[in-house]
Amino acid sequence: MKKSLILVGTQWGDEGKGKIVDHFSKKFNAVCRFQGGHNAGHTIYKEEEKFVLHLIPSGVFCENVSCFIGQGVILSIDSLLEEIKQLEEKGIELEGKLRISRYCSLLLPLHAKIDQLREDNKNSIGTTRRGIGPAYEDKTARRSIKAFDLEDSDLLESKLSSLVEYYNFQIKNIHNSEPFSYDEVYRQLIDSYHKAAKYFGDVTDTLEDIYEKGGNILYEGAQGTLLDVDYGTYPYVTSSNTLATSVGVGSGFPKSIYSDVLGIAKAYTTRVGAGPFPTELFCEVGQNIAKQGNEFGATTGRPRRCGWLDLVALKYSAKLNNLTELCITKLDVLDSFKEIKACINYEVDGKTTSFKSRLLHKAKPIYKSFEGWDCSLEKCKNYADLPKNAKEFLEYIESYVGVKIGLISNGPNREDLIHR
Ligand code: GDP
Ligand code: IMO
Ligand code: MG
Repeated sequence: MKKSLILVGTQWGDEGKGKIVDHFSKKFNAVCRFQGGHNAGHTIYKEEEKFVLHLIPSGVFCENVSCFIGQGVILSIDSLLEEIKQLEEKGIELEGKLRISRYCSLLLPLHAKIDQLREDNKNSIGTTRRGIGPAYEDKTARRSIKAFDLEDSDLLESKLSSLVEYYNFQIKNIHNSEPFSYDEVYRQLIDSYHKAAKYFGDVTDTLEDIYEKGGNILYEGAQGTLLDVDYGTYPYVTSSNTLATSVGVGSGFPKSIYSDVLGIAKAYTTRVGAGPFPTELFCEVGQNIAKQGNEFGATTGRPRRCGWLDLVALKYSAKLNNLTELCITKLDVLDSFKEIKACINYEVDGKTTSFKSRLLHKAKPIYKSFEGWDCSLEKCKNYADLPKNAKEFLEYIESYVGVKIGLISNGPNREDLIHR
């Protein structure tokens, strides 16, 4: 039996997960998303052409790989259809390749509207405004419309009218905005569902079947560990569990938990939206990282906040995910820096503190400084080709975190990857 793999972001998202999933998928029989929704933006360059995937697993470009969306994903059928259309225009056929769990909770346009109204008020989180928070709230509150509800129109009508009523109460009493029309919400949902119906089915049984026949599965995490609703920088987090350990519930296939876990980390740190970020740089160095790394959100286009690599946070992530291996991405972004830093400790009022500190927003980073390599990594194909200073930086990360770095990404394209 071949070993399956869970791939997760170890920072605040956008670590380059999409590129790595695309690279690895040819070695797997299936790729499965297990949490999050279309807040994710996973960028892949395929022969110089750029694709940004939000819901469809990043294994879609590999011919013999099946793609699954497990029930832990919050599903916007409209976003899915848009993505399918874009892929089909490029000749990538999804029928027979993509299967989505009938048990997925649906994200409707009304969730996005509520997210936007909340974000326009004070105390905003800086969400992607896609409706992720309200849709996960509905799931937990047992109000969600599930995909399988659309198989029975009587049940759907009663559930949907309660949901519209619930949100119209909020719209009227909290947001002072226009109410939703039940007829419109219903019609839109039915139209979308009919177009997507052929993709729904049972994911759990199919994953089990692949596995029991000796196949292996790549589980594609979205967001990052520090955005986990339980273990991230709450309340500045997303609304799902992003940790590798949520794979069993999110995919519906319990044996998924016996996989290896590959953690993806940028060679520095970025964050989109609000919340604590101890190593954030407000000076020219931060602007230079943003410029070299082209740090703009793949989903919203917002500029990403940038800072040095935070090893305290990375070690926290490595433990929580029980990482078996690390992949460091975007090392090439640091090519022109004379000095590179990594945070090895935090202090609050002169005392060392941990990532879990309630005072993280006050944490002062203590840095270790590294001499830059000051040359292009573009041509490096093997670990031995890397300059000495780059190896020193990587080997320090490895020893601090206590997890082997097995992969180094030195450019956005498929082939820009060094196996160690
Ligand atoms: P994801 O959400 O984790 O899949 O990451 P995003 O796609 O949101 O952001 C990562 C960005 O960095 C994308 O624009 C990628 O094309 C790009 N990228 C990925 N790996 C590398 C790398 O090693 N070097 C450079 N320069 N860019 C990379
Ligand atoms: P990928 O998969 C980076 C962030 C938002 C915001 C917070 C809550 O591409 O790495 P939400 O819309 O989820 O309620 O927003 O989470 N966020 C991401 N940041 N990458 C992502 O996904 C993200 N998905 C959500 O910016 O701070
Ligand atoms: Mg992204």
